[in-house]
Amino acid sequence: MEEKVKIRIDGKDFEMPIIIGTEGERAIDISRLRKETGLITLDPGFVNTGSCLSSITFMDGEKGILRYRGIPVEQLAEKSTFVETAFLLINGRLPTRTELTRFSVLLNDHSLVHEDMRHFFDNFPRGAHPMGILSSMVNALRAFYPEIPERSEEEEIDITVTRLLSKVRTMAAMSYRISRGHKVVYPRQEYTYAANFLNMMFDTPVRPYQVDENFVRALNVFWILHADHEQNCSTAAVRLVGSARVNLYAAISAGICALWGPLHGGANQSVIEMLNSILESGGNVKPFLAKASDRNDPFRLMGFGHRVYKTFDPRGKIMKKLCHDILNKLNQKDPLLDIALELEEAALKDPYCIDHNLYPNVDFYAGIVLRAIGIPLNMFTVLFAIGRLPGWISQWKESMEDPNWKLHRPRQIYMGEKAIDYIPINERK
Ligand code: CMC
Repeated sequence: MEEKVKIRIDGKDFEMPIIIGTEGERAIDISRLRKETGLITLDPGFVNTGSCLSSITFMDGEKGILRYRGIPVEQLAEKSTFVETAFLLINGRLPTRTELTRFSVLLNDHSLVHEDMRHFFDNFPRGAHPMGILSSMVNALRAFYPEIPERSEEEEIDITVTRLLSKVRTMAAMSYRISRGHKVVYPRQEYTYAANFLNMMFDTPVRPYQVDENFVRALNVFWILHADHEQNCSTAAVRLVGSARVNLYAAISAGICALWGPLHGGANQSVIEMLNSILESGGNVKPFLAKASDRNDPFRLMGFGHRVYKTFDPRGKIMKKLCHDILNKLNQKDPLLDIALELEEAALKDPYCIDHNLYPNVDFYAGIVLRAIGIPLNMFTVLFAIGRLPGWISQWKESMEDPNWKLHRPRQIYMGEKAIDYIPINERK
């Protein structure tokens, strides 16, 4: 029997159905609320609001569970590659060997960027943040790769998806090269997705880049951990912008803009800046914890806390292990890892952090992994964006295929002036 909740408004009873997800989460379906009662709900930051039904990613914030299409992220991080995980998210199932080979070949085939587009990069000011450059360039892709009317909608989506996954990686590396005043390195057929990216970033005519398989594996794990996270801020932006039926490039460009923020993907850069400040101030983590718990101080512990996770972020645990693994393999030490470990230990015992459920999230150890690979600080969030692409794409596809699709258009409660008359300028005081 369908479960329902009753609400009483002005003495009149209304019934709303309860929707139950496959993992048992329950939600009150209020889609007919305004029509039936004339009232809306108010939920700043959408803390209590489910915006869609989705079959892509499951998270349990209390237990620290994350699964893509049902598969635990821990298994994917250990056994899969980023390209295979991207296929899984976008197509809803793991590929066969033939499908995976075909997908990888397609990604290679589409990896070049239009030469005219390449020149755009020259005109951004030196020092411009790569996230701003990337979002502009992704939006510009539509101008260079317009829709072809002869193609079916399905073919058009397939080719756009492949282009995005392939070219965003090339453009990310290009923006880095050009920002350094270096010649662009083109993608090469013989390299895998991650190896190609590293080669495009770091190969030089005087010192050919030797692709290190440890870095390739680390990058695959990094990207798998970022591949989707259900209705986070940037994914919600992609769905919202996409709901106006813009093209996929424009919707993804909106997602990149949202991801840039320091409370979201920009946190991986902010964590390193914070750890550096701790190091420069003598390495004592206590004053930073005190600042974080001071209500009059806007400072936040970057890389800590999460809207959904009220325990350890499962991605953070894998990232921490990856940090140790990669530094051990390289036989390197990073002073920022020592600070991070100390900060985590102190935070887990700190009353404010305990009270606010502040645990390390995916971004806390991510930057140390990227530093070990040689990725520069201002590219960290770009790396997150490449990783999140399959998630954005699959969520956009799901929303486009949703039979109950609607333009996203929240309402508000108006708290401004009541109707007043226009005052001509010479009569204003
Ligand atoms: N440092 C200090 N206090 C914090 C922190 C933090 N990192 N995070 C939350 N709080 C406090 C906040 O001050 C508030 O306290 P009070 O109730 O006493 O006023 C309370 O916890 C709730 O904060 P909120 O901002 O309403 O909670 P939220 O669910 O919106 O927070 C968050 C989520 C990620 C924005 C927040 O934890 C934060 O700012 N973290 C630091 C930035 C960060 O690491 N972001 C990456 C998130 S994971 C990757 C991703 O998804 O992009």
